[in-house]
Amino acid sequence: MSAISVIGLGVMGAALARTLIEHDCQVTVWNRTVEKAAPLVKAGATLAHSVSDAIAASPATIVCVKSHQQTRELLATEPDVLNGKTILEMSTGNASEVEALVAFLQSQGADFLIGMIAAYPTEIGDDEATILTAGPETIWTRYAPTIRILAGKSGYVGARPGALAALFAAQYTVRQGFMFGLIYGALACQKAGVPLDVFADEEMLLNDVRGYLDVFAATVPSDQYSDPPASMATYEAAFDDTLQTFNALGVRSEFPQLMHDLVHCGVEAGHGDKQLTALIKVLGETCPGIPRVTKMGV
Ligand SMILES: NC(=O)c1ccc[n+]([C@@H]2O[C@H](COP(=O)([O-])OP(=O)(O)OC[C@H]3O[C@@H](n4cnc5c(N)ncnc54)[C@H](OP(=O)(O)O)[C@@H]3O)[C@@H](O)[C@H]2O)c1
Repeated sequence: MSAISVIGLGVMGAALARTLIEHDCQVTVWNRTVEKAAPLVKAGATLAHSVSDAIAASPATIVCVKSHQQTRELLATEPDVLNGKTILEMSTGNASEVEALVAFLQSQGADFLIGMIAAYPTEIGDDEATILTAGPETIWTRYAPTIRILAGKSGYVGARPGALAALFAAQYTVRQGFMFGLIYGALACQKAGVPLDVFADEEMLLNDVRGYLDVFAATVPSDQYSDPPASMATYEAAFDDTLQTFNALGVRSEFPQLMHDLVHCGVEAGHGDKQLTALIKVLGETCPGIPRVTKMGV
């Protein structure tokens, strides 16, 4: 029976602790609001009376609080106990918070693995659930069996602690790019009297998205953008028409305008005969008229 501690017993932390208890792990729990520990203690967990007691009780401690910042603040109150222990951080947070947390843990001689839970609390323990992790590969290898008890499809993304925040930001951008397309597209359709169920036809849109994934897979990983079935110049012409239509309808057009301007920039940079995805090669450059984010602002 492996020993593991869980700090943070909100809805997610409680689900993690309960699943480990159900898999016969020897679980020690701590929560700022102690009452939340009662059902878990009843289920077989041991209650720790402080953060340091929880960390001392097991070789590894899962922390699942509000964000990486709260994790660091919480652990900083009890630094002496961290040396030689492993922190499995399951709170979410941004890239700079995670860097600060990892720097703190390393300064205290603790090992770490950062986890990004891609599941609801009710899905914890499910074979199909996923927790993506980053950190030293040796720690992933050691704790993968435990993490896969929590989420059967869990995996390892890479050594850099910021990898998960980058992956989250990247996938969030894809999802919200799609959502913003739906929102702006609905504006145009509403104004033109096109039924929204015709506009948002699931089969047609998902077919398009699958096609984009195919184009992406065939071009960006290999850095090969030649012989496109539709060139960037063709896309530019379609974006010209799109923008003209939005403007003629008198609806907001910031989103299509941005795409139009970036494609125009790609064509101007000499990629007109290439695949649209060749745009990735010019996004690091300055595009005339398009503000570029430098560090923490525009
Ligand atoms: N719920 C989900 O679907 C889901 C999915 C993926 C990832 N997550 C991540 O899991 C983490 C926890 O989420 P949750 O849904 O369990 O939230 P929650 O139910 O609101 O629980 C938050 C937990 O954080 C603790 N906490 C907050 N600030 C603290 C502080 N300053 N010091 C000590 N403890 C503090 C709370 O303690 P008290 O009980 O004392 O308030 C509680 O245990 C978050 O990072 C969240 O992004 C959640």
